[in-house]
Amino acid sequence: MAIAIFDHLATKVRHISNIILIRKRLAIILLAVTITIYIVSTQNLSLGFESRKVRVIPDIIAKEYVHPDPDFAKLGHEKDLYVDHIYCITAKDKQDRRDNMNNQFELLGIRAEYVMGVDWKNDESAKDILKHTKPYLRDEQNACWVSHLRLWKDIVAKGYKTALILEDDIDFSMNIKETMKTSLEILNRRTRATANHEDHDFGWDIFYPGHCSDFEKYQDSVDPSFKDLRYGIMPFCTHGYVVNIKSAALLVDLMSIPLERALDLHMVFHSAFSTEKGVLRMFSIEPSQINQRRDLYKNDPGIRNIHFLSPPNSTLDYISNNPQVLLNK
Ligand SMILES: *[C@@H]1O[C@H](CO)[C@@H](O)[C@H](O)[C@H]1NC(C)=O
Repeated sequence: MAIAIFDHLATKVRHISNIILIRKRLAIILLAVTITIYIVSTQNLSLGFESRKVRVIPDIIAKEYVHPDPDFAKLGHEKDLYVDHIYCITAKDKQDRRDNMNNQFELLGIRAEYVMGVDWKNDESAKDILKHTKPYLRDEQNACWVSHLRLWKDIVAKGYKTALILEDDIDFSMNIKETMKTSLEILNRRTRATANHEDHDFGWDIFYPGHCSDFEKYQDSVDPSFKDLRYGIMPFCTHGYVVNIKSAALLVDLMSIPLERALDLHMVFHSAFSTEKGVLRMFSIEPSQINQRRDLYKNDPGIRNIHFLSPPNSTLDYISNNPQVLLNK
């Protein structure tokens, strides 16, 4: 009898100690989870999107250039592809690329300003910035970021209302003039429609006649008269895009931080038409009318896929098949 009672008690004790043990494990697990959540939330381990607060565009720019200027929505000259100014980012040692750019400019009747990209190894001010960059970004990626950042500042400083930024390895579609004219007319209609609103709404922020994205083709067209112009959701790459003075200022504001990832990704995360509902109203052309030709510059680094071949109605292909067209110019 006594043994039976003892057994019974022993079982109870074991039972209770098991429960305590399980609770202890649960408590440890809970504690671990809590600590993890705390660390993640304080470190802001970025899961793709910035939580950084966006400052509103300096009022002075909005007032000076946006509101009172009735000419804002006027198109630029045909030679400038209907914007105020065209920049082409290049580097000293890329004469082969500039030869191809010059041929296209000549054939299509386009004028552009070459600007030297940041020379990462020799530029003292670039070295200074390097101290603050993320170690996992490649030097070319940081150089790309700073090169574009300098141009946006230049656009604001010079007061260009609109500017096209090109990189030097691109190939235009021969339809680029029509595409630019039609698209900017549609985009500027958005500007006029909103120009009198208190929020200084330009109607558009970045227009990508060139991109390297698979996603734009699923986007809605902006206007039934020209289905190629889309609401831009993820127009990757930065080799051919148009900004206006307000979005240039906004980009300076958004991108003057050491980047966590390549510049084009940073930009598309701010698209107003993505689920993130960013501040940049992006528009793109699908199919892209300005492409990077990585097949022509094989020694340069970078991803290679369908987006880095000729655009439809390629100018460089046309020139290489008909070299006499430049002699007649
Ligand atoms: C290619 O571009 C030329 C010059 O703008 C144009 O005349 C021609 O119609 C274009 N072809 C196609 C298929 O779009």
